[in-house]
Amino acid sequence: MKSLMIQGAKILSTGSAIPSSSFSNNEISKFVDTSDEWIVTRTGIKERRLLQGIDKSIIDLAVLASKKALDKISMDPSQIDLIILATSSPHDLFGSASKVQYQIGALNAVAFDLTAACSGFVLSLVTAFQFLQTGAYSNVLVVGADVLSKWVDWSDRSTCILFGDAAGAAILQSCSSIDNSILNFQLNTDGNYSKHLSIAYQHNITPHSNLNLYQGSFKYISMNGKEVYKFAVFQVPLSILKCLNSVNMSVEEVDWLVLHQANERILTAIAEKLSISSNKIISNLRKYGNTSAASIPLALDEAIQEDKISHNDIVIIAGFGAGLTWGTIIVRW
Ligand code: ACO
Repeated sequence: MKSLMIQGAKILSTGSAIPSSSFSNNEISKFVDTSDEWIVTRTGIKERRLLQGIDKSIIDLAVLASKKALDKISMDPSQIDLIILATSSPHDLFGSASKVQYQIGALNAVAFDLTAACSGFVLSLVTAFQFLQTGAYSNVLVVGADVLSKWVDWSDRSTCILFGDAAGAAILQSCSSIDNSILNFQLNTDGNYSKHLSIAYQHNITPHSNLNLYQGSFKYISMNGKEVYKFAVFQVPLSILKCLNSVNMSVEEVDWLVLHQANERILTAIAEKLSISSNKIISNLRKYGNTSAASIPLALDEAIQEDKISHNDIVIIAGFGAGLTWGTIIVRW
């Protein structure tokens, strides 16, 4: 570890990966009582990618997204010092980041998982920023990857229509404080509302006979959609405004809003509350649904590939989800 000093950080590259199998609303309506019209009207989602195959996991998607981000800047994986894998659907409860580290050949990197559901990428980016600012590390790979299809009850129409699988990656590098592009961040948690969105642990009814220990397994996703909706539309604009205000920036200076892709109506409502024009919203959930920790880096990567985001643009990144946890990052691209 180098001596501690305050440095800047910039996002050098992004990459993303999606499963090859696409499922339309009409296909979902073959096994739950729903319709394309209901799903599109309430959520804006038209289709989603789902990771099929017994031997496939988030690791496959995370590795692919990471390799694409590395390839774009021809970076040797051995230059990566730290990997943070934001996921709530790991392949191993002890963590999946080390497998990503090994499979991409980042042999000098320390790697760990960070669990914060749909806010995972925002929290991981801020965590990476701390390591870069202090000068502890020079290159950090942040990956958001989730396969919530493994944790959805496919007979529950209120949740199964929402989620898709994907991974997105970003490589951050330290730089001088003058070139710093992470201008500010603002993070929040309110555990009082955790009941509204969870994949809860359920123990067996009878304990282990000798030890009085209750073992069990995780249940499917449960969500109070209305409460999550109200929370997002109320709290996310406040977080964005707080974040902008504390660095004396105004909403007029914002070029792009990259919000967690949960629901088109949430994106529109947040932009309206902030009086930000709807053509500044980056949205791709029509094609992918809610991909949890992957949604922001996937949207960012696509927007960059489509040449939407330009050098020096002010990009607001805001995530929200289970915890409940939410937060904002202001980036000068
Ligand atoms: N198809 C048809 N009807 C349905 C479906 C469906 N897929 N799902 C629910 N319905 C029915 C309900 O049963 C209900 O019927 P009723 O009026 O006869 O009781 C009716 O539609 C209305 O249901 P609501 O739940 O009130 O629908 P709502 O307008 O709230 O939309 C939705 C539901 C889309 C889930 C919305 O609440 C939402 O998007 N919430 C936010 C979710 C979110 O952002 N999650 C992000 C975090 S995810 C994470 O962190 C992992």
